[in-house]
Amino acid sequence: MSFFSALFYDKVMQYTEEACLIEWRRVLLENVDGNVLEIGAGTGASLGLYPSKPSLTLYLAEPDQHMRMQLQQKLQSQSEMKATVLSCSTESIEADDDFFDYVFVSLVCCSVKDVAASLQEIKRVLKPTGRFIFLEHVAAEPGSQCYHWQQRLNFIWRRVADNCHLNRATEQSIIDAGFVIEEIQYEKMRKMIAVVQPTIRGIARIALE
Ligand SMILES: C[S@@+](CC[C@H](N)C(=O)[O-])C[C@H]1O[C@@H](n2cnc3c(N)ncnc32)[C@H](O)[C@@H]1O
Repeated sequence: MSFFSALFYDKVMQYTEEACLIEWRRVLLENVDGNVLEIGAGTGASLGLYPSKPSLTLYLAEPDQHMRMQLQQKLQSQSEMKATVLSCSTESIEADDDFFDYVFVSLVCCSVKDVAASLQEIKRVLKPTGRFIFLEHVAAEPGSQCYHWQQRLNFIWRRVADNCHLNRATEQSIIDAGFVIEEIQYEKMRKMIAVVQPTIRGIARIALE
């Protein structure tokens, strides 16, 4: 992401955050505890929404240097929030196997280079009892007008929006990676252009062998 995209990211997302994302993040994160990783943490949109518990140790990973700079600044200005900032990507997470109690991604699976490899890495670093929490914009219902436009616009969108794909079937990718989805909600992201509106959010655990 360019320096300017990172600089204006929060401004661009402000109305969507206020209209729905802040509340969705808050509910998804309200029970996290132990070792928690947010990967693709961006500018730190979720920072103030983690519960403040002494037993929670937060790790924030963001591979893009410009986004990471915004993240570090936000972290410093929120002095009550302590976290370790990492620069790794979802495809290669800097952590031991079975280390995290929770891994959280929001609006990240749309942009990663390799979704399947990313989900395998998330599985590797999650404890067998851990939970994977996701909030992602996804492909619309196949056959719908929105789906049709997502297919048509995807090529150009990826180029202007830093490899963000409009048409990823992320729920299926999560299942294919060997997770069991325990909770899922489908809702349109408000104050957002139509092709980016369809979202899924929920919680998954690793499937038993
Ligand atoms: C749309 S932004 C979302 C940022 C933040 N999660 C949020 O909800 O505001 C997508 C983020 O994913 C990051 N990203 C892209 N590819 C990634 C990868 N392979 N691994 C980790 N993060 C990645 C980008 O650098 C960017 O910060």
